Amino acid sequence: MAQQVKAVIARAKGAPVEVTTIVVPDPGPGEAVVRIQACGVCHTDLHYREGGINDEFPFLLGHEAAGIVESVGEGVTEVEPGDFVVLNWRAVCGQCRACKRGRPQYCFNTHNAKQKMTLLDGTELSPALGIGAFAEKTLVAAGQCTKVDPAAEPAVAGLLGCGVMAGLGAAINTGGVGRGDSVAVIGCGGVGGAAVMGSRLAGASKIIAVDIDDRKLETARTLGATHTVNSRTTDPVEAIRELTGGNGADVVVEAVGRPETYKQAFYARDLAGTVVLVGVPTPEMTLELPLLDVFGRGGALKSSWYGDCLPSRDFPMLIDLYLQGRLDLGAFVTETIELDGVEQAFERMHHGDVLRSVVIL
Ligand code: APR
Ligand code: ZN
Ligand code: ZN
Repeated sequence: MAQQVKAVIARAKGAPVEVTTIVVPDPGPGEAVVRIQACGVCHTDLHYREGGINDEFPFLLGHEAAGIVESVGEGVTEVEPGDFVVLNWRAVCGQCRACKRGRPQYCFNTHNAKQKMTLLDGTELSPALGIGAFAEKTLVAAGQCTKVDPAAEPAVAGLLGCGVMAGLGAAINTGGVGRGDSVAVIGCGGVGGAAVMGSRLAGASKIIAVDIDDRKLETARTLGATHTVNSRTTDPVEAIRELTGGNGADVVVEAVGRPETYKQAFYARDLAGTVVLVGVPTPEMTLELPLLDVFGRGGALKSSWYGDCLPSRDFPMLIDLYLQGRLDLGAFVTETIELDGVEQAFERMHHGDVLRSVVIL
């Protein structure tokens, strides 16, 4: 039987989000219904509301979530009712050219539930990133459910579903940060902060946090930054070079998504170093660089999609480290809120007041 549950939707471009009742179908083949326990508020949810992703309103928002599998459809073997799971937007297909080459973290054909959740009048909803988890329950593809240790706090575990994983993975997976590396992170919100934490976890010896907001720099220190630079008052390229013996950092993570900060990252990197772009630019942005510098400085210019994570490999591992007290994922939860608090949370996020607000259900 389809169920009716409360959820947060964006009905029209720019209109405030609203709590309403939606219909969640029973899981079909390959699908699962998950009872959501916690879901973080992410910039992408706000972008959906503002029509910045596409025009397929109404959207069912929310995608950084953890919960308990309630029921599964035919043929589902990866999870069963009662499992504690983190939802992901990288359910790998196993068939595409990336998967076939043994690089499932780049899967080019990820999938979501086939059936649609709807409003009471039958209007189909577009779930954010194929998840839609500001809801008491949601319908996803079973492959979007990653089982992790149920001892983890749902509010903390859910954050691995998007921004925090993106930042951790930008450092660890894409940047390949290792013991003794010097790292600079430009932009220390939830994503950049996680890149700082990931760099510490990987054994970086110098971690330079760059932001234009002193509050973010203070937080970055608690997450593992060894040095901080306010790039509103100090040239970050010079500062990073100075802090690295005049050379630049081995790995620079750009977690803002703007041409000027990308250029800073490019020039703050040591010869043969790595730049990782994890901040998401907008369509009108372009980048101009002397091609000779691109050649002459060598190394790698990489982009990080969702931290190049493989959920089945990375989520359980990171949750274990968190439960052992070796990775303070709880530091990203600035506040917990209720389902009707998402609009105000957008406001606080917009003003840079929070790393993450997390809806508890
Ligand atoms: N230089 C340095 N830092 C900057 C600059 C700048 N020019 N502009 C903004 N920042 C800082 C902000 O002060 C803030 O601390 O970047 C940080 C951005 O953090 P959030 O707004 O919390 O965003 P976050 O969730 O971390 O995402 C960062 O990654 O996934 C993408 O779409 C996301 O592009 C966004 C980026
Ligand atoms: Zn694939
Ligand atoms: Zn997100």
